[in-house]
Amino acid sequence: MNHSGKIGFIFLVLFLHSFCVFSEEGMWLPHLLKQLNEADMQAKGMKMTAEDIYSVNKGSLKDAVISFGGFCTGEIISNQGLILTNHHCGFRQIQYHSSVEKDYITHGFWAMTPNEELPCPGLTATFIVRIENVTDKILEGILGTTSEEVRQANIQKKIAEVGAEAIKNTHYDYVIRPFFYGNEYYMFITETFKDVRMVGAPPSSIGNFGKDSDNWMWPRHTGDFSLFRIYANAENKPAEYATTNVPFTPRHFFPINMETLKEGDFTMVFGFPGRTQQYLTSYAVKQLKENINPTRIEIRKIILDKWSENMRLSDEVRIKYAAKYAGKSNYYKKWQGENNGLVRLNTLVKKIEMENAFANKVAGNKELEKLLPDLKEHYLAIEKHTLAREVYSEAILSGIELLTLSNVFVQYLQLGPKADIQKLKSYIEKHFKDFDLKTDKKVALPLLNLYSKWNKDFLPTALKQKKIELLVNELYTQSAFTSKEKTLKLLSHIEKGNTSKIKKDPAYILAFEMANIYQNNIQPVCNQNEYKIELLSRKYIKALIENLPDYRKYYPDANGTLRVSYGIIDGYEPRDAVQYLPFTTFDGMMEKYIPNNEEFDLPPKMLELYQHKDYGPYADNGQLIICFAASNHTTGGNSGSPIINAKGHLIGLNFDRSWESTMSDIAYDATICRNIGVNIKYVLFVIDKFAGAGYLINEMKLVKEN
Ligand code: ARG
Ligand code: GLU
Repeated sequence: MNHSGKIGFIFLVLFLHSFCVFSEEGMWLPHLLKQLNEADMQAKGMKMTAEDIYSVNKGSLKDAVISFGGFCTGEIISNQGLILTNHHCGFRQIQYHSSVEKDYITHGFWAMTPNEELPCPGLTATFIVRIENVTDKILEGILGTTSEEVRQANIQKKIAEVGAEAIKNTHYDYVIRPFFYGNEYYMFITETFKDVRMVGAPPSSIGNFGKDSDNWMWPRHTGDFSLFRIYANAENKPAEYATTNVPFTPRHFFPINMETLKEGDFTMVFGFPGRTQQYLTSYAVKQLKENINPTRIEIRKIILDKWSENMRLSDEVRIKYAAKYAGKSNYYKKWQGENNGLVRLNTLVKKIEMENAFANKVAGNKELEKLLPDLKEHYLAIEKHTLAREVYSEAILSGIELLTLSNVFVQYLQLGPKADIQKLKSYIEKHFKDFDLKTDKKVALPLLNLYSKWNKDFLPTALKQKKIELLVNELYTQSAFTSKEKTLKLLSHIEKGNTSKIKKDPAYILAFEMANIYQNNIQPVCNQNEYKIELLSRKYIKALIENLPDYRKYYPDANGTLRVSYGIIDGYEPRDAVQYLPFTTFDGMMEKYIPNNEEFDLPPKMLELYQHKDYGPYADNGQLIICFAASNHTTGGNSGSPIINAKGHLIGLNFDRSWESTMSDIAYDATICRNIGVNIKYVLFVIDKFAGAGYLINEMKLVKEN
């Protein structure tokens, strides 16, 4: 029996109002495509059925899509478990295996035999086995009268029960998530593989060509891919890393398109989008745009400036901070684009218009007409505290690494007997592998200054009493958290039950007091109001769909679960009188090429291949297409997602959105929002012609009929 076909109430309302308007907005649940999207997808050119994409009974496309490490998407491209994902998704692994002597970041890495594939401790690949609507089971007996906090706790209990029952006597796991703010619940049964090995990665000059200047931008020329492989035990089941494990045989893998891509072609992105907030009220959007984003941007600018100064001075620091830098700079830039986009789309005004339309429609209904004023009240009530939380989290917890580590110890000691010392030890190892004291100290002074200025009402004693310069000097000369040896020594005292030393450590004292201030004075105010906001939002979205069903398109916000987006290969007009085409070429990459430049250099071998136009079978009409733009609605987490054509063949790998689309997590505009993918034929070109790893192509299935 296929229980997954059961459709939830809200989805049913959407179905009844079935919109056959052609617009690409939306991230859809794979098991509901039949009811909601199949006709629209076919009208756009899709030659498959919904059952070809998601099926519980037979192998379908979903069996070739994985959550890569829980933060990106990947796809299986051979019957030997070969994974394709982005370079930036595999980057932590590339960096983990790199050193000044074996610099895979700069030179790339290719395993020439299975023996050379590198184990990646902690890296996982997760498949979705099936999806089920569990709304009735989760909400059964949950009373509307209890407080939101109690309700959430009861729901968590229910989730644990329902999930445990579903995976009883299997090696599967489950994920149960709320949809439409908890109006519905869906369960995803998952299978997670733990032996995932690194197979190949191009040099960063290809995999991250254009770096920060080109990030979030179209036109783009980045070969943003890397290769991994899933290993399983002799029964083809998940197992911990073992030399006896063998390459995994999947239920499905993507055939690879060798046809020429055309503007207007149907495209589909299948992956794990992380988080969107399409139904935020105007009050929330205002807060995000005017307070939260500017705060985050200012803090990250300080960190990135200081880090890059030191990364330029030393190769060792450059390698240590490479992945951390890429991670921080990515959203630093995105938030700026997002704010521009919100202004440009006039999102605030449009939200207010919708809220007015809603208010008119529900006027006279005592319960519903209070929803928006109540939401407003709770958003205003947390303004100061959400900002303080942001400052604490960005500037202290993830800004000053000395305090990050100190805080890990604060949390560890709070856990008491439940604390896991092995976990802490491996955290310490990882922390110091990528830590540079001088670089961190450089960041500490301006960030503590900023904390004092912005979080005036939440100051720890040291910041009230000491000059910040003096405090920083004291922290970086006297704290044990400045070196691995001293930290481990401190830990050995703690293991013996002696905590007097740590309690005198200046970084610990500071982190401890800041954590207390956060837990007592900031977090409770946020939590209390956010519970209320959650409850009101649940009622609001339901009422919105019921009362204004045609006002906009409704679909559940991204929440890290498997989704399908679809659209076409398409350019756009970024501004007045400017038109962007949907394909970029090697010629265009050469226009950007700057020898020895940090961002736009290319390896000599690439120049040679270009000179001889040695593109092998990967060219189209004499050009090698590098990237393409399409109108699929995507977000963070969709990186590495397969871009699939009308027949289910792989045409590319999603890795970014254009600058003008970065607000699409909050407000989507079909005329300008574009996702960016790297052409699969360029990926094959790099593997084959550039890296000489053509043997990998032999295990793939290339198809040349459309
Ligand atoms: N913006 C893309 C994403 O959100 C790519 C990030 C990696 N590239 C970079 N230059 N940092 O993840
Ligand atoms: N690069 C993003 C990721 O890592 C995808 C781009 C986006 O946010 O759309 O998932």
